Amino acid sequence: MTYREVIEKARAVMGPNCRVCPVCDGRACRGEVPGVGGLGSGSSFTVCRAYLDSIKLMMDVVYEPSEIDTSLELFSRRFPFPFFMAPLGGMNFNYNDYLTEAEWSRMSVSAMAECGSLAFTPDGAKDEFFDLSIASIRACGGVGIPTIKPWGREVLAERIRRAEAAGATAVACDVDSCNHPNMRMQHVPVRVLSPSVMAELVRGTSLPFLAKGVMTAGAALRCADAGCYGIVVSTHGGRVIEDAPAPCSMLPEIRAAVGERMKILVDGGIRSGKDVFKCLALGADAVLIGRPYVVAACGGGKEGIRLYNEKILGELRDVMLMTGCASLKDITPDKIRLSN
Ligand SMILES: Cc1cc2nc3c(=O)[nH]c(=O)nc-3n(C[C@H](O)[C@H](O)[C@H](O)COP(=O)(O)O)c2cc1C
Repeated sequence: MTYREVIEKARAVMGPNCRVCPVCDGRACRGEVPGVGGLGSGSSFTVCRAYLDSIKLMMDVVYEPSEIDTSLELFSRRFPFPFFMAPLGGMNFNYNDYLTEAEWSRMSVSAMAECGSLAFTPDGAKDEFFDLSIASIRACGGVGIPTIKPWGREVLAERIRRAEAAGATAVACDVDSCNHPNMRMQHVPVRVLSPSVMAELVRGTSLPFLAKGVMTAGAALRCADAGCYGIVVSTHGGRVIEDAPAPCSMLPEIRAAVGERMKILVDGGIRSGKDVFKCLALGADAVLIGRPYVVAACGGGKEGIRLYNEKILGELRDVMLMTGCASLKDITPDKIRLSN
């Protein structure tokens, strides 16, 4: 199977919610939440592609060649590449049930683990989402990061215990789901996570804790003070707020504010190895990719996910070679040019 065949099959089976566009940029699915789009005008999704496309790569091919190393250390282990699967839930109400939630959960977590990487997994209005996440992660020997909705302190603490019992790599909370339209629609009691509760949760677990949905230097500093291992700079794919900047555009400010106190991950519209490179040059340690993995899974199952990882990794290696970067630490701000 080739990646092109994966896309062709996905196009035949995924409609109408996901049109499998040549570039997944949020234009065709504007306003479709539930669905796969961004909220309202869809601007917080479409801005991601516009921003990433505006960044230029600085070619430098005059150097002593050496092996290219794309690996990185995170969560006290080594990963072969700096991109992971973002949490994605709701195969029925967001996609059109081509995959069941259980099939997607098992397939996504195991495919990423088999590639040496990992999946962040979803939570949702029904317990089924989190139950499946935990079962899939446990079945893979703990490889995976359950991402818990910002329920109140007690439910969060109980779900963190379950993540620990499953031997999960880390645990995350998508703090930006505090007003998620899908949660509101289903009357789910999500809320804003206060820094003091966050600190209490961090202190109460042995797992590295990440806050997903951080967009300002101020919020990042509050997460660092609460003891977070890391943050995901994200607007939930533009699904929870309109007119936000592209998450990756906030990286330089956030990195300058927190320095090396926390790991910084980012997502939103990252669609190629070039984009991964640009995000690292802007200050990220690693990135998450979301929607394209569902397309890969619908078009090719676990094989589709593996092919997608290979595609992104190949593109990243090509850019590293053409910009004189032997390892990820060489991907510095001078390797890109921001247009005005
Ligand atoms: C259909 C769909 C479901 C999602 N479900 C979750 C979720 O359960 N938890 C979460 O933290 N993020 C969720 N997200 C947000 C993604 O994790 C990610 O932040 C976002 O899609 C940006 O990445 P992308 O542009 O590469 O898709 C979801 C996004 C989509 C499109």
